Amino acid sequence: MVPRRNAPGPGYGANPPGAKGTRMRTSRRVPVALLALSVAAALGVGVWSSATPVKAGTAPVTAVSTDFEDGTTQNWAPRSTDETVANSPTVAHDGTHSLAVTDRTESWQGPTLDLLDTMELGVQYTIAAWVRLADGDASTSARLSVERRLGDAVNYETVVGDTTLNAGSWTQMSGTYTLANDVDFLTVYVETSDGTSSFFIDDFTMTYVPAIPIEADIPALKDVFADSFPIGAAVGRAQLLGEHGQLLSKHFSTLTAGNAMKWDATEPTEDAFTYTDADAIVAYANANDIAVRGHTLVWHNQTPSWVFQDASGATMTATEENKTLLLSRLENHIRNVAGHYADDIYAWDVVNEVIDEGQSDGLRRSTWYTVTGLDYIRTAFAVAREVAPNAKLYINDYNTTVAAKRDALYDLVSQLKSEGIPIDGVGHQMHGNVDWPSAADTDAALTKFAALGVEQQVTEMDISVYTDSTSSHDTISADLLARQATRYQALFDVYAAHQADLTSVTLWGLADDDTWLKTFPITRLDLPLLFDEQLQSKPAYWSIIGQPSPTASTTASASASASTSASASASASASASGTTACAVTYSVAGQWPGGFQGAVAIGNTGTAAINGWTLGWTFADGQQIAQLWNGGFTQSGSTVTVTSEAWNGTIAAGGSASFGFLGSWDGTNTMPTSFTLNGQTCSG
Ligand code: XIL
Repeated sequence: MVPRRNAPGPGYGANPPGAKGTRMRTSRRVPVALLALSVAAALGVGVWSSATPVKAGTAPVTAVSTDFEDGTTQNWAPRSTDETVANSPTVAHDGTHSLAVTDRTESWQGPTLDLLDTMELGVQYTIAAWVRLADGDASTSARLSVERRLGDAVNYETVVGDTTLNAGSWTQMSGTYTLANDVDFLTVYVETSDGTSSFFIDDFTMTYVPAIPIEADIPALKDVFADSFPIGAAVGRAQLLGEHGQLLSKHFSTLTAGNAMKWDATEPTEDAFTYTDADAIVAYANANDIAVRGHTLVWHNQTPSWVFQDASGATMTATEENKTLLLSRLENHIRNVAGHYADDIYAWDVVNEVIDEGQSDGLRRSTWYTVTGLDYIRTAFAVAREVAPNAKLYINDYNTTVAAKRDALYDLVSQLKSEGIPIDGVGHQMHGNVDWPSAADTDAALTKFAALGVEQQVTEMDISVYTDSTSSHDTISADLLARQATRYQALFDVYAAHQADLTSVTLWGLADDDTWLKTFPITRLDLPLLFDEQLQSKPAYWSIIGQPSPTASTTASASASASTSASASASASASASGTTACAVTYSVAGQWPGGFQGAVAIGNTGTAAINGWTLGWTFADGQQIAQLWNGGFTQSGSTVTVTSEAWNGTIAAGGSASFGFLGSWDGTNTMPTSFTLNGQTCSG
């Protein structure tokens, strides 16, 4: 067998026999394929569904397909010399044959296919395979990964993470992958997370949707916002190539490396610094006159485990010795990484997400904190200032629109600044969703820190189409995209009002084809950015530049800035008379011990428009609303009253309005079923 390689991360795998290919990949373009435009029919999505098509897609092109029906292995091979990979008539997902892998002695062993001559740089592929355990083998999970090499450098990248396989049934594994690095060896493989079960694979496909040109004539965001603030996007190497690179340089004046500058990327093993991807991103930025934000020097995530291990390899406990060791590792890391980019990076997220407003002192109990107290933050800023004296130094966090969070952050920054710690700025991540945060809370966050005399930046903005962490849609309705546009516009309006305080606004991603929200908090379709999966402008783009969307339907018009629904405002004035009736949908979008998130939709089921609304209900179990968005609220005992905002008070006949809230509960959390709207009883 082949020795196991000491590679970190979920893509952990083997170092199989010598590299097969020697040819270096260059940026060859995908062969031009005819773009078969197929408009996806809209699917109804909850109460927000509209009959409008969501988005035009292009037909996928198949680059590789192996179904094993010809009785051969179709170029699949074993990863090592131990296991056997053979065509099998025993089971098949479709047809009569599949590929069997038996005799495995290590979990990383499995079938592998050479992609060196097939996969093109910068093209996003969907890679899918059906996998089935051999009968009689216990359940385990499998994953699908890519191994790429250049010279001696080996990387394993997970395409589909651990997926449970159940005995006797086929499971499909499907994920996307974009090759962003030059390679001289490239394979895809299937392994199990543990154990050595025999398994079968079948109907493997690798497809891609041909790129269409970016819109060359639409206004460049960086021009539109030139007088307000630089505008940026978080990117990886894949976003530097082809149409992605064109979109990036056309619209953005600043960029952030989404992952390439994090600790696990820059110092995966102690004192061995790797800048391959980060350097490529910086070189692109320099060549295209784009400023670079650095993200991030210290975080509790994406930090290799060795950082937190003591001299004996055990997880650090809070001792003086460990504190000294951890701070020296921190100093060495920052000295190297921030020093490496001293001339390239104009602003660093020195520390990321150090606040936990649930703690009495507001400080996250990361290992950084438990071992060093606040000294890790003090050291990080001091060393960064020393080695990168021209960079603005930021403390970056999410949910700063939540009062308790921003208050804790404010207190920390005040304290550290009074100690003389060189904090120049506060970064507001601004991960939001179609209903949240409110303009008022966003304004409150920016106003609060302006008083502290620090610079501010919006560092990671995106607007999820989901307001909870469990829902999942196969397609996203035009209405949802319109709501997203409305939210983008509301928040950008606040940013514009605060442009004197804001020195940049950065989106967490370039376009919807590559966003972290497709796997966080669960795997689902999310479209949170300004450009769609084909890099074309969305209603959200048009909303923030203040122009009508040329492609939006009448119900999804992004120019309807003052309304969640253009149809609502359009027909409201025409409906001065008629019947009034309402239907209310109340749901618990998420619930945890002591807290929950509620979502309420008011449907106008009458024939007259509703012009301004007050909704009332009674909680049965002592629930208490703490915070509510898209409306004003009062609660007196168990009686709740919610009133419309100026912009969502008009509900056309057949239209709807919604709001959400955070509340507390104890014991039971019965949902109210009886509501009054403007004094009239609604159906529940
Ligand atoms: C995310 C990246 O976008 C993902 O690719 C990665 O898997 C996890 O981290 N807050 C941050 C960012 O500060 O670093 C995170 O980026 C998103 C949340």
